[in-house]
Amino acid sequence: MQLLAFDDEAALGQKLAEALAWPLAVVQRHRFPDGETRLRLPPALPRSVVLLRGLQDPNAKLTELLLAAAGARELGAAHLTLVSPYLAYMRQDMAFSPGEVVSQRHLGALLATVFDAVITVDPHLHRVATLDEVLPGRRGLALTAAPLLGAYVAQRMPHALLLAPDEEAGQWVRAAAVAHGLSHAVCRKQRHGDHEVDVALPDVSVRGRAVVLLDDVASTGRTLAAAARGALAQGAASVDVAVTHALFIGDALAQVHAAGVRHVFSSDCVPHASNAVSVVPLVAEALHSLVQQR
Ligand code: R5P
Repeated sequence: MQLLAFDDEAALGQKLAEALAWPLAVVQRHRFPDGETRLRLPPALPRSVVLLRGLQDPNAKLTELLLAAAGARELGAAHLTLVSPYLAYMRQDMAFSPGEVVSQRHLGALLATVFDAVITVDPHLHRVATLDEVLPGRRGLALTAAPLLGAYVAQRMPHALLLAPDEEAGQWVRAAAVAHGLSHAVCRKQRHGDHEVDVALPDVSVRGRAVVLLDDVASTGRTLAAAARGALAQGAASVDVAVTHALFIGDALAQVHAAGVRHVFSSDCVPHASNAVSVVPLVAEALHSLVQQR
């Protein structure tokens, strides 16, 4: 087995390699002045290769990913697995207006032509039940960081109320709460634009409670900010945030804190100052069982 990680993700790659006790090699990149990239892989690869690549900032990374995968095949990788802790383009799962491209389906089909298996964490699957459905004919494994985040919250705040800021986050909040005996509830969200979000709190009292908002991803932070403002307006004692994917684009983190959020905790799927729990053991276990099943 061989684990490959891009140079800017070597730290996560190193942790994963140690957990797996597999060798790690780094995909070296050189950026030419015209924006093209030259990639360099180990000149000879074993039959089974796992490529680590998180797809935050996806448009910049997808070309390199496809080139690295094709290069790995050429250099001997007969079985190629992608570990993408954050798998982008999973949200657009239907055409909401005529002519809209269903990115989830097409990116899934593209990855299925290149990789034998794809492992990710908390992909934003809404109208599709499993990652297998996104990757025609290939193995798709969707792991979840929700119980890890739940454990972290339960340890720090055993009486916290876990709140899902929208219905879709209900699945993660339930998984986190049930595993650790926390109470939970689900808000309702209405999105009016990229930065315009309304969140209605559920019919449970948050007065005096330590509220923790738990979601799969924080992008602009507007969802979490709206939910935090609502909870504090209704008398919550504190509001903290736990997310799997800490994208926090632009002023997102500032917006979240300005809304009254105290602490932000995240998994290390996306490297960020808020990383508090590691998905490495989870991913390592999934890779070990994938290898055993082959
Ligand atoms: C969407 O339903 C997701 O679960 C997140 O709530 C959403 O993507 C967060 O986006 P933003 O941080 O831009 O509000």
